[in-house]
Amino acid sequence: MMTLHIALAKGRIHKQVMAYLQESGYDFPTYSEESRKLIFADRSGQLKVTLVKSPDVAVYVERGATDIGIVGKDVLVEECFCADVYEIADLNIGRCRMAVAGVAGNEPELTKRLTIGTKYPRIARQYFEKNHYSVDIVKLNGSVELAPLVGLADLIVDLVETGSTLKANGLEVRDYIMDFSARMICNPVAFKLKKREIEAICSVMEKRKAAGGKR
Ligand code: PRP
Repeated sequence: MMTLHIALAKGRIHKQVMAYLQESGYDFPTYSEESRKLIFADRSGQLKVTLVKSPDVAVYVERGATDIGIVGKDVLVEECFCADVYEIADLNIGRCRMAVAGVAGNEPELTKRLTIGTKYPRIARQYFEKNHYSVDIVKLNGSVELAPLVGLADLIVDLVETGSTLKANGLEVRDYIMDFSARMICNPVAFKLKKREIEAICSVMEKRKAAGGKR
């Protein structure tokens, strides 16, 4: 078997996938959640894992720097990565919803032009255009919940997983746009050359999925 190189989206996804892999018998001697290292090889030589920022996962896979990647579907939709990578599995982890949210009990006047804070300008624009709202989109890079609290935006479009970030900041969901989960994507050349290795990792992840998705 050849070594399969996987790019994992840094953060919740990589922590969950690494836990799955370890529970499934893969041993990464230098890995810990706190480590600042970015590349980890498993003792058997079957897997090499590289941690990358989520919008970059498909870039690594598309260019063949890694064979496969695991990243949220939200990122694939927002970055419009569908052409040059194959989406080969829905892993049923990292499940979350894209939501419109605002300050609890403070409905903005819908007749005025609304300002929307978001990390997902494409998804946000499509949603508001579809619903015939006229909006200004402000692209932010994180901690989007701040925007309505300091007057930067009337509403936000952001991911909600447990809802605790919204709650902690006095915000509430106004509408749900769509559901997302983590996907496995594959480089088309690797798909041919490392078919066996890819099938093996897919079956490990499928077993976990069958065991209930959540850890
Ligand atoms: C995500 C998302 C929300 C939060 C939702 O942020 O953008 O802020 O998680 O999760 P919850 O519903 O379980 O509270 P992330 O932690 O990735 O950080 P960032 O937005 O600041 O980059």
